[in-house]
Amino acid sequence: MADTKAYIVVGADSLVGGNLLKALARRGLPAYGTTRRRDRLGPERLFLDFESAEPFSAPADAGYAFVVAAATNYDRCEKDPLARVINEELTPRMIASLLRQGLFVTFISTNSVFGGERAWPHEDAPHDPQIPYAAQKSRAEAVVHAYARELGTEDRLNIVRLTKILDASTSPLPAWFAAWERGEAVEPFSDLIFAPMSATFVGEALATVGEKRVAGHLHLSGAENVSYVDLAQAFARRKNVPADLIRPSSATAKGIHIAFKPRFSGLGMPSTTALTGLRPQSLDEVAADIIR
Ligand SMILES: NC(=O)c1ccc[n+]([C@@H]2O[C@H](COP(=O)([O-])OP(=O)(O)OC[C@H]3O[C@@H](n4cnc5c(N)ncnc54)[C@H](OP(=O)(O)O)[C@@H]3O)[C@@H](O)[C@H]2O)c1
Repeated sequence: MADTKAYIVVGADSLVGGNLLKALARRGLPAYGTTRRRDRLGPERLFLDFESAEPFSAPADAGYAFVVAAATNYDRCEKDPLARVINEELTPRMIASLLRQGLFVTFISTNSVFGGERAWPHEDAPHDPQIPYAAQKSRAEAVVHAYARELGTEDRLNIVRLTKILDASTSPLPAWFAAWERGEAVEPFSDLIFAPMSATFVGEALATVGEKRVAGHLHLSGAENVSYVDLAQAFARRKNVPADLIRPSSATAKGIHIAFKPRFSGLGMPSTTALTGLRPQSLDEVAADIIR
């Protein structure tokens, strides 16, 4: 399949999908996005709803699909039986259909499949999901692999796991930035650990993955396991905000229940770096990207 073929981004309106489409456009690569919203359809916005009986036929010039859309809300994954069906059954079925249609497919998954008790799990480490969302993504990965094996298309499939993604609109950043504008302090949590990446970095890295067409498991990760206090300090350094406008607090002290509190969040990327040249994003780069 020629590299000039178009890309399809399933889930154009998602945080990841929107930034991937922008990265593909910056590289001059032709791309379609999909939406389940009929009022958003257009020549490059195709209808795709996992829950619809309407089959999805990829445009003839498409050669690669990124399956980004998912039921992502932790609470919904726990309480709404349809979320499990979307993540574990309908999404893998759509991926099988795209593989049957001859496309190379990237399925987007999450660091949470590893559970968070082990530091820097590598691309083929065993799963240990601790919450329903993570269990659903973990089972989806297994079902997707089973379809690809059955179809003899494992050389046209990769699964890319991501750590937490931030842009300037991700909570609590708008509230922090507004508070600092007013000269007020923010109270970030010291007991929430994550390995954030900027949405721009993720869009660019996925576009690189699409250009390299590497099969197997890949990881994209922040370079450090940090707390929200560390994140606030990284922004404060960039924005010249005085240190006393950060008053560390904790979810425990505030009595806030957090569904998923991993000890470690960052993903090991040894194989991804060897195969694609992609490297983890440092916290300082995350802050710079978001402020930019
Ligand atoms: N955001 C993160 O920090 C993060 C971290 C690790 C992994 N991931 C993974 O990255 C992917 C994207 O995450 P995100 O945060 O960018 O997603 P998001 O912003 O929550 O958007 C989810 C998208 O999925 C679409 N969708 C949901 N159900 C659908 C259905 N039945 N049929 C068609 N589309 C459907 C939604 O469509 P509507 O717009 O129409 O509602 C929405 O565009 C997910 O696979 C997620 O597991 C995300």
